[in-house]
Formats: sequence, structure tokens, C-alpha cells
Amino acid sequence: MNTAAKLEIDGKVHTLPVVEGTEQERGIDIATLRTHTGCITLDDGYGNTGSCLSKITFIDGEKGVLRYRGIPIEELAQQSSFIETAYLIIYGHLPTRRELQHFSDLLTQNENLHEDMKYHFEGFPSTAHPMAILSSMINASSCFYPGLMGRWNPARFDVHTARLISQVRTIAAFSYRKSHGLPVIYPKPTHKYTANFLHMMFSEPYLEYELKPEVVRALDLIFLLHADHEQNCSTATVRMVASSQANLFACAAAGVCALWGPLHGGANQAVIEMLEEIHRSGDDGSRFIEAAKDKNSGKRLMGFGHRVYKNYDPRAKIIKQACDSLFRALHVSDPLLEIAQRLEAAALHDSYFLERKLYPNVDFYSGIMMRAVGIPTEMFTVIFAIGRMPGWIANFREIMDDPHSRIYRPRQVYTGPALNRYVPIEDRAEPAKA
Ligand code: ACO
Repeated sequence: MNTAAKLEIDGKVHTLPVVEGTEQERGIDIATLRTHTGCITLDDGYGNTGSCLSKITFIDGEKGVLRYRGIPIEELAQQSSFIETAYLIIYGHLPTRRELQHFSDLLTQNENLHEDMKYHFEGFPSTAHPMAILSSMINASSCFYPGLMGRWNPARFDVHTARLISQVRTIAAFSYRKSHGLPVIYPKPTHKYTANFLHMMFSEPYLEYELKPEVVRALDLIFLLHADHEQNCSTATVRMVASSQANLFACAAAGVCALWGPLHGGANQAVIEMLEEIHRSGDDGSRFIEAAKDKNSGKRLMGFGHRVYKNYDPRAKIIKQACDSLFRALHVSDPLLEIAQRLEAAALHDSYFLERKLYPNVDFYSGIMMRAVGIPTEMFTVIFAIGRMPGWIANFREIMDDPHSRIYRPRQVYTGPALNRYVPIEDRAEPAKA
């Protein structure tokens, strides 16, 4: 196997080291490229750029493989819980019984927001998107923990981590209650993580929400499947912000903003809106598929395609099965599920999608499952953010623990005007009216 690559520029050959990962994926290390050649690399959208070495998550997009700390997602989905998986991702190993209990206790001890935080919710209009509230409130909550603000302190990592994982769920539930004009419901220390979230979302002061085990398990699975996904847009954002030594909460708030977009975490909401549009219009899905193939239509088959997976997203497979089981267990049906299944079947036989290797991603069925759980559409991306928190925290920690970590600062190839002189305002010609 080559351990060096040769690059010829202006007749001169430069040797660049090749770094090999655990699973034999290779990267050409170009750290000295500009110093030695004056050139930089250009990679719009970073499709070929490895921004870091990481020990957290492995993806083989060609084969549809996803592993957290080496453990296949299928095994975790079947045997683990979100909180155990969060521990695995953050601390690098499956917890012993005692470690898990300690982690769980820390989460419970840190589940309540500072009481003054409640006033912040008052300032948002009822139309505010919960992702806007979530990112603002994560940042705002950092103000209540001055210990966060100083330099990175590994001794405080456990408690800040527990605070963030636990409180993001409380903030999310409070923002939902607030946007629906409902009184907030405090967390219950006797409930486990996901059950507690459902309790805070759906209990009323006069009526306790009935926790169905299959619903709790379904939502827990959704959190687990979203827990990390290596250098996606939001995680890369978290690392970018962390590289400036910003605090954990600031990095997580930035991650939430990056996740919000419809091409990333916002896709789960966009999938449901697409399915509803198809349902309303009476289309059997075929008209929409044609529109999604037409670049001028402005439409895409949301929940399809992925930068890394050129095969079925393994999370989509798990969610699809879990979705079927949940519907059976609850004895419910959803016309949107039928439309989704028709769209999937059509796309998987259509040369447009096959040639471009566009397969269902995690978002294609997760929204339908969340509807069955009772989560309102505008909260879907928030659910994704709660789930992704362990991955963001683990990536944050990798940056902070790396003694060689440098501030992330990409370069560019400038294509604007060449040297241009300042013209005083009285000498500038107004553009001619059209
Ligand atoms: N529907 C129709 N055509 C698509 C779709 C889609 N969902 N996705 C990609 N394509 C087409 C593109 O138009 C392009 O066609 P061309 O080669 O003829 O120009 C080709 O497939 C490649 O697409 P790109 O946009 O270059 O792929 P990229 O890797 O940049 O984008 C992305 C990946 C953003 C996920 C894209 O597939 C997409 O927009 N999908 C829909 C949104 C979605 O589901 N996002 C969730 C991603 S998973 C996650 O974040 C959790």
C-alpha cells in the first residue's frame, strides 16, 4: 500500500504522506502543500476533504455501514438505549453498570433549567420556530454556568456534558409547551430520559401522560439512530466553532443552527410537508417523482440522497422496520406512510435515482414515525438535535483534548475584481434606469 503520493506542479514533483485509517480508508496529508508549492486545494462542498482524524464514528457510504466506536448501528439499535449509546460515543466504551448509573444520576441531577431561564421563553412570539428557541436557549443557559466560560477544564466536562444532554430535552419540551400556550411541565426524576421528555411534552398539570412502552422505545430509537454521523454539516460546524476554543454550549448552539436547514436536519420536516402536499393534491406520487427529476421544478425528493451514502442508509432500514412495528403495535395507519412506500418503490426502479445512487436516508421514514409518536412536525428537527447532542459533545472533546488542535481556517481562491481604486461618491455614475 502506498504511504506517499506524488504531485507534480510546474514540473516539480512533491511527495505527500498518505494517512491510513482503521478501515483502510486513505487520505493524502496536504498540511505542507502551500508552504512547498504555493498552491491550495479547492474542494467545493468538501466532498473530498478530510478535516480531521477521529475515533468516534465510521461510515462506509458505498456499503451502507455505520458504526459508533466500532459497534454496528444495527446491534446498538437492537440492544442498547439512547443514553447508553450516548455514553459510548462520548467516553469511547460501553459503560459498566456502575458507570451507566453514575451517568444517569448526573443527567437527573442536571435536568432542571435555572428557574430564571423560564423568563427567556416569554420573550419569543408564539410563532417562533422551536429550532430558533433551542439554539438561543442553549446559548442563554451557558450564562448561568460561569465555569463554562473560562478555558477548557476537563474536570468539569462530565457535569457540563450531563447538563447539556439533559437540559436540551427540557428546553425542547418547554419551547413546545410555550409555542402552544400551555403551562410548562417540569421533569420527573423517576422517569428515564426519553420517557421524561414525553412526560414534559404531553402531560398536563391535571393529567399525567400515559407512557406506552412501544412509544417510548420508538422515540428512544430515533434519538439513538441520530446520535452521531461523523463530519456532517452540523458536526463540522461544532468542530469549527470549538477550534476557536469557544465553550461547549456555544458550540452546541452553532450545531443546532447548522442542523436546522432543509438539506440537513430540516429534511425530516420537509419530507412530511412533501408527503402532505402529495396527499392533498391527490397525486399517487408519480407526478412528484417526475417533478423531482426536473431541475427547473425546484423540487427534490426529500429524504432521498446523501453526500456519503451511495447505498441504502442503514438507519433508514432500521427506522422503516421500526415504523412498521410501531404502527402494528398501536393499531394505527397513516396515509403518508403509504405514499412514502409508493415513492420509495418508484424511485428504486427509476434510472434517474439509480444512476445517481439516491436511496432513502434516515429522514425518509423518521418523520412518519415521529407523527405516530405524537411529535408535531415543527419539532422534528429538534428531536434530531436532541439525538445528535452526544456526537457533537464527543467531537467537541476531540478538539479540546488534542494538544495539536489549531483554529479551523480554510482558504479560498479569490475570483473577484483585480486591484480597484476608491471613487469619491460625487464622481460615481448612477446606473441607467431599466
Ligand atoms: N431528489 C432529486 N434529485 C436529487 C436529490 C433528491 N433528493 N438529491 C440529489 N439529487 C440529484 C442532484 O440534482 C444531482 O443531479 P445532477 O448530477 O444531475 O446534477 C445529483 O443527484 C447529486 O446531487 P448533489 O446535490 O450534488 O448531492 P450532494 O451530495 O451535494 O447532496 C443531499 C446531498 C443534500 C442530501 C441531497 O441528496 C438532497 O438535497 N437530498 C434531499 C434533502 C435530504 O433528504 N437531506 C437529508 C440528508 S441526510 C441528513 O442530513 C440527516
